[in-house]
Amino acid sequence: MYLIVGATGSLGGQVAKAILARGERVRAVVRPESSSPLRRTGRFTDPGELRALGAELVEADLKRPESFDSHLVGVKSVLMTASGTKRAPPDSTAAIDANGAAGLAAAAKREGVEHFVYMSASGTGPDAPELIRAKWEGENAIRATGQTATFVRPAMFMQDWIGFVLGAQLQGGTRIQLMGEHDAAKWFVDEGDVVKLLTEILLAGPPDSGESTTVMEYATDRASHGEIIARMARISGVPLTVERLPIGQPVTTVAEPAAGALTHLLAVAAATPPAESLPPEVTQRYGIRPRTIDDFLQRMLAAAPS
Ligand SMILES: NC(=O)c1ccc[n+]([C@@H]2O[C@H](COP(=O)([O-])OP(=O)(O)OC[C@H]3O[C@@H](n4cnc5c(N)ncnc54)[C@H](OP(=O)(O)O)[C@@H]3O)[C@@H](O)[C@H]2O)c1
Repeated sequence: MYLIVGATGSLGGQVAKAILARGERVRAVVRPESSSPLRRTGRFTDPGELRALGAELVEADLKRPESFDSHLVGVKSVLMTASGTKRAPPDSTAAIDANGAAGLAAAAKREGVEHFVYMSASGTGPDAPELIRAKWEGENAIRATGQTATFVRPAMFMQDWIGFVLGAQLQGGTRIQLMGEHDAAKWFVDEGDVVKLLTEILLAGPPDSGESTTVMEYATDRASHGEIIARMARISGVPLTVERLPIGQPVTTVAEPAAGALTHLLAVAAATPPAESLPPEVTQRYGIRPRTIDDFLQRMLAAAPS
């Protein structure tokens, strides 16, 4: 039995479906809709669809770790993709990605769960931006419980950091705003490739390295936002102009509430350090042929309303 915490999210829901499609049993955590006002503003997975595919639905909340106790019985592996990143207080990153992870891992350890797979993020560390620093705290808290765990640290998802950050701006015209003077090459990964990796890691079970925790960095293609915009112009045949705003100045190419989120994400992108080379070891080990940025752009621009 696989317990998926975050199954109503975009990534978590896709992993739940992939595990079910492999003939395995899935217990999917849902919360009453009233406690999640921002759920419908993003991409989200309908619990009814998961139930129809054979998932067992259970109710729990990471702010109350004891709500998981009975749901961990008979569970071999836990996947936690749940995050406060796209949720409203009290579901903050500190409450969910850090404290929630700590409580869930402690409960999993007590119940004898074999493997805890935690969705972390590339670039996390004690000095990382607030958006991902909670992942570092979550990893450390899980490590402290002694629970055998894998920390998956993917790069920026193309869907969010290209599809939303750049693509949403194109809906209002041909001007794209970036932030700051520096536009380093950044690592990206397609969300679908993260689904594939998480599915394979879960089905494989705990690594036999003998270590109680394993860290897995996952990035598949890199470019600066400026380069990506130039490729978008080439593929679409539409000339695009780039405007550079001082860090923190609100974007004007989209309306609220997207503008606030975009301003925040562009400031994070401006502070992202240049991408260092990473060995393609993870994709090879799991037989994944990753989607490139160019392929993502082709599909994104083909799907855009003309
Ligand atoms: N986007 C990127 O570039 C990027 C990069 C690196 C890592 N990541 C990580 O990848 C994951 C993305 O997952 P996703 O797309 O599935 O996220 P998502 O669509 O934002 O969904 C968030 C999930 O967390 C659940 N959740 C929030 N608060 C909860 C609580 N108190 N108790 C139980 N569940 C709670 C939500 O449940 P409700 O539906 O009930 O609210 C939902 O299932 C996140 O962990 C993110 O930090 C993303």
